[in-house]
Amino acid sequence: MTKSADLEISNLRIITPFEDREYESRLHHLEGCITIKNDKIISVGECQGAKLVINGNGMIAIPGFIDPHTHIPFVGERSKEFVLRAYGKSYVEILKNGGGIYSTVEKIRSSSRKELVEENYKYARWLLKSGVTSFECKSGYGLDLENELKQLRAIKELSKIVSQTLIPTFLGAHAVPKQGENKYLQELTTMLKEIKNESLSQFVDVFCDEGAFSVEFSTELFKRAKEMGFKLRAHAEELSSNGFAVKASELGAVSVDHIIKIKDEEIPILSKNKTTAVLMPATSFYLKTAYAPARKLIDGGVRVALGSDFNPGSNTFYSPFFTLHLAVNHLGMSPDEALIAHTLNAAHVLGISKSVGTIEAGKQADIVVLDAPSLEYLPYMPTNEHIRMVLKNGRKVFENKDNIPG
Ligand code: NIG
Ligand code: FE
Repeated sequence: MTKSADLEISNLRIITPFEDREYESRLHHLEGCITIKNDKIISVGECQGAKLVINGNGMIAIPGFIDPHTHIPFVGERSKEFVLRAYGKSYVEILKNGGGIYSTVEKIRSSSRKELVEENYKYARWLLKSGVTSFECKSGYGLDLENELKQLRAIKELSKIVSQTLIPTFLGAHAVPKQGENKYLQELTTMLKEIKNESLSQFVDVFCDEGAFSVEFSTELFKRAKEMGFKLRAHAEELSSNGFAVKASELGAVSVDHIIKIKDEEIPILSKNKTTAVLMPATSFYLKTAYAPARKLIDGGVRVALGSDFNPGSNTFYSPFFTLHLAVNHLGMSPDEALIAHTLNAAHVLGISKSVGTIEAGKQADIVVLDAPSLEYLPYMPTNEHIRMVLKNGRKVFENKDNIPG
């Protein structure tokens, strides 16, 4: 028995996808130990011994959840809009009247970078306590050079003080500023150069929809961003069907997100181009809209990832357990498909699948230990309280003993 490992959790039921396949659609079930040295998993299944051994007591271990789509960092809140919507106003009506995204933009512009970091530390903690060990952070509430950079720099600073891996995305094209989209395109091009120079983001996103940017503008922005070496992601076909998911896919986008209104005949194009569909059923639930056609996408060979879309306007739910519940109950996904979508497939979108997203030797030890009888129990009883322990890079970063008597 070697004692060179740092940590071993024994007596676990390990449920994980494996990374080496082109398209993973099933989970693997192993029993025994996870052994960790430094920040990495060195063995799964057979016990090796380690300096510290923790008894997993038959609990379930899954890979840390990965949230591939959030609008962190934001400041302030929009509960008044929420109440307006509850009484019948639509998201687009509020946006077109200068509310919605625009009201968060005002708050971001009048906040300092330090305030952004401080306020969003809280949301990172909420996600950690929900088992999320990596997540995407978008800008998009600045809409000018100074404030978009402020958000991206805040993400960089936040990543130094939170436990998780943060992957930034530049969403300068989130809402059309008052000068109109034509003038804004030039400003966005300047922002892209600055972001490249400062290495603030590898990804560019656009909100191409009713009340936001046109297909023509979005296509031109993507062409410019692609030329500069950015990876492309799109908010597409959420509120209206305009064909941009296909355009983005043809331009090589790594993901098209929301795609509630995608047409049946467009699905094979996403599959052919290996564009991942990022689905966020909590937003459909929150806005009381239709759900994305997950079953058709999966059956059509499209890789599906799940995310929260956590933001102050269209969805304030952030727990992956709630997303799993909605994925099974409203998207027609199996519990296996849902877990893969919120771990490995989400890692693919963020370009981090070589290091996280599964429990395998060689990967970073990002692991969630759950006190639950089965995988199916998670969407059935969607609460963060299943979590007993969260490990990030082999370190215990959260533990919950609240539910143990005595
Ligand atoms: O993904 N659709 C556009 N953007 C966000 C909403 C952001 C906001 O309302 O602040 C979304 O739903
Ligand atoms: Fe979004």
